[in-house]
Amino acid sequence: MTHVMTEAPQTAPEPSGPVRDFQKGDAINERFHEIVPAATHTYSKGEDQFPKRSPKLIARAQGAYCWDVDGNKFIDWAMGNRVMVLGHAYPAVNEAVKRQIELGVNFTRPGILEYELAEYLVDLLPVAEMVKFGKNGSDVTTAAIKLARAYTNRKLVAVCQEHPFFSIHDWFIGTTNMAAGVPSEVAKLTVRFNYNDVSSLQALYDRYPGQIAAVILEPVKNDEPRNNFLQNLREITKREGSVLIFDEMISGLKFDLRGAHHRWNVYPDLACYGKAMSNGYSFSCLAGRKDILELGGLKHDKERVFLLSQTHTSETVGLAACRATLDEYQLKNVGDHIWSQGAKLVSGVRELARAEGVADHVRVIGFDCNPHILVTRADGTFWPELHTSFHEEVISWGVLIPWITITYSHGAEEIARTLEALQHGMRKIRRALDDGSVERSFLGDAVKPVFRPFNRCCQSKCGRLHTDAPRLACCTDDGDDA
Ligand SMILES: Cc1ncc(COP(=O)(O)O)c(C=O)c1O
Repeated sequence: MTHVMTEAPQTAPEPSGPVRDFQKGDAINERFHEIVPAATHTYSKGEDQFPKRSPKLIARAQGAYCWDVDGNKFIDWAMGNRVMVLGHAYPAVNEAVKRQIELGVNFTRPGILEYELAEYLVDLLPVAEMVKFGKNGSDVTTAAIKLARAYTNRKLVAVCQEHPFFSIHDWFIGTTNMAAGVPSEVAKLTVRFNYNDVSSLQALYDRYPGQIAAVILEPVKNDEPRNNFLQNLREITKREGSVLIFDEMISGLKFDLRGAHHRWNVYPDLACYGKAMSNGYSFSCLAGRKDILELGGLKHDKERVFLLSQTHTSETVGLAACRATLDEYQLKNVGDHIWSQGAKLVSGVRELARAEGVADHVRVIGFDCNPHILVTRADGTFWPELHTSFHEEVISWGVLIPWITITYSHGAEEIARTLEALQHGMRKIRRALDDGSVERSFLGDAVKPVFRPFNRCCQSKCGRLHTDAPRLACCTDDGDDA
């Protein structure tokens, strides 16, 4: 095995936009790596996910905009790790938080807000006979898995293959290409089925009869559920005695205030909410059937389940933010705004891509409320070099759009300016495609998948250091949400 390390290109043509000075961020970033592994606390925000010519650290954000430490201003479509629905530093939410911090943030017994928010959510969410709170999405997906295992007295968990991320915890991370530190015995307890393919789940039931505790998936991601997929999933899990868990972390609030499952009228046993539900503050919620959730309670005679008991779970800031976010969402009809702005953005990007002759390379997938711009080879597969080149140019025009989270703060002006920036990106990659210079058209490394076993492949065949190298079993383009 050869251990070749090619250096990332140190020179490349300058992007054409005015935003090019990232010196301060670059300098801090170097030191940051010395004191914090990966120089980030969320892998999807890491430097291997963005072009080298991009903001490294954000200083502040307001509405649909953010400013980096070099003072560059960007239209922000990523909105953190998709944690906004109203916009950055949204006044109604911040006011609620300020009021709450004056009342205290963590008490010796449960706070009254824990009760009031629980009443609010049980009333709002048809799926919720009971709720239990967490601070991160992984808190509640992992809690749902634990409850399902206890409730069914089974060990196996079936996860949807096409959905890239459910939890930072071992039951899920053990199944990824970044599983170091997870015993293989744990990883073997998680098995996979395919979206829109009930027969793939049935095959698991045939192979592991009476052993599957939980089936977990995002109810809807990029594809329309076909042939009553969700209804069939509901039926088969009921028949087989598994707990059906819908992960609404991303889909919740985008497709519908109450979750995508409510729009499709299919109700799981447990639903997991987080992210934008509290407009950037830390809050998550497990909602569902009382006979399952009560296993974590005091009013039963079964074996006790240790359910989400943490020092900061009852901290009031996230709870106040959640209540204010959901109120504002309903007051301003934010759901309709997301769908209609999304439709404008999607049709604008598609039109531009056709006009600029890159429709085979800049594609929009997903629903209008949750679209994704995918930069691809002509065969539709993700093209990391072209993606990096495209985004380097778009960023130079002051637009950060690695993924898309439409909020109430994204209006007509932001869409118009974004389309202009995307047009510059499209023109740049058209030229690079035409003169065969894609690999040399941007500075630094191409973006890499989060879930890879090594930072640089031992054979230099990963991370696109040699693009013509054959793909190995460990190569993957999975996962952009960790
Ligand atoms: C669909 C989905 N589920 C669960 C999670 C985990 O949420 P958290 O990062 O808040 O733990 C994520 C995070 O990106 C996610 O995208």
